Amino acid sequence: MPLIALRQLLDAAADGGYGVGAFNVNNMEQIQAIMEAARETQSPVIVQASRGARSYTNDRFLFHLMAAAAELYPEIPVVLHQDHGNSPETCISAIELGFTSVMMDGSLLEDGKTPADFEHNVRVTREVVEHAHARGVSVEGELGTLGGIEDGVGSGEVHLTDPDQAVEFVERTGIDALAVAIGTSHGAYKFSRPPDGEVLSMNLIEEIHSKLPDTHLVMHGSSSVPKDLVDAINEYGGAMQPTWGVPIEEIQQGIRHGVRKINVDTDLRLAMTGAIRKVFAEEPDEFDPRSYLKPARAAMQRVVAERMVQFGQAGHAPELEAKPLEEMQALYA
Ligand code: G3H
Ligand code: 13P
Ligand code: ZN
Repeated sequence: MPLIALRQLLDAAADGGYGVGAFNVNNMEQIQAIMEAARETQSPVIVQASRGARSYTNDRFLFHLMAAAAELYPEIPVVLHQDHGNSPETCISAIELGFTSVMMDGSLLEDGKTPADFEHNVRVTREVVEHAHARGVSVEGELGTLGGIEDGVGSGEVHLTDPDQAVEFVERTGIDALAVAIGTSHGAYKFSRPPDGEVLSMNLIEEIHSKLPDTHLVMHGSSSVPKDLVDAINEYGGAMQPTWGVPIEEIQQGIRHGVRKINVDTDLRLAMTGAIRKVFAEEPDEFDPRSYLKPARAAMQRVVAERMVQFGQAGHAPELEAKPLEEMQALYA
């Protein structure tokens, strides 16, 4: 299936000055929602699967669903990306499965929880880069750990990405894209008040970009957690606490300073859950799964399409033709 490499897409995004959303998937409806949003907005897109998603779909379902997506949406350039690979083995198995991009998250040990030291991170990331680039596959690395400020671990500051260390990390690993820790965290509960310069270090992005102008930066934990999506869940029986996510304007500021890949999962989960709760609340006699999965898919499509416009990738699909991975391999060689 003709998937595009992350490196090719992010190089184009850098030339065009736009960002590209990387949306997490776990099932058919989510893949359909993303592909329909991409077609609606004529966007290239990054579809990503976590380790949890790969085990949930038993890999083969995921692979064949993505093959169907590539077949049904031939005009949409799609990257298939491993999100948060915890070890070289995870990344290598993703490459064998046909992913065109992998994240080696060596900021944490293999358990995906314990912060790793710099040398461990360099070692595992370099190992993945050598394996991946020899096959034309792109690699994202991460330096610093997410959730540094409000997760109650340490002082917070020490987990943010250090710009000088970032330069050394990129030089020693040869990665295509660098995920930076600037104070965001995964999930719905990122901030307990609207984030300002105190809790979100957007200035770090500018500093890292000025030192590494040719490295594509990645923002994880970039859901905006819109109030209307949280309210919809609560209106139909949910019990979510007040919470704030990453404002779109902050992401757009990042895009002006080298951010090219923006990871969004939570907003999609919120949209689907609100839509499903609404059907359950309003039509308690309904039991056909399609009656709630269809509105859930449509709600997710709306959020994805909105982000595609906000990140600037909308309209750029027709400009891109996926280079075969052999061509990418030759570029690295
Ligand atoms: O990085 C986290 C993503 O939201 C994926 O989450 O590991 O629950 O699939 P997951
Ligand atoms: P959110 O939880 O903010 O959507 O972040 C997703 C993410 O970073 C996946 O890697
Ligand atoms: Zn992430």
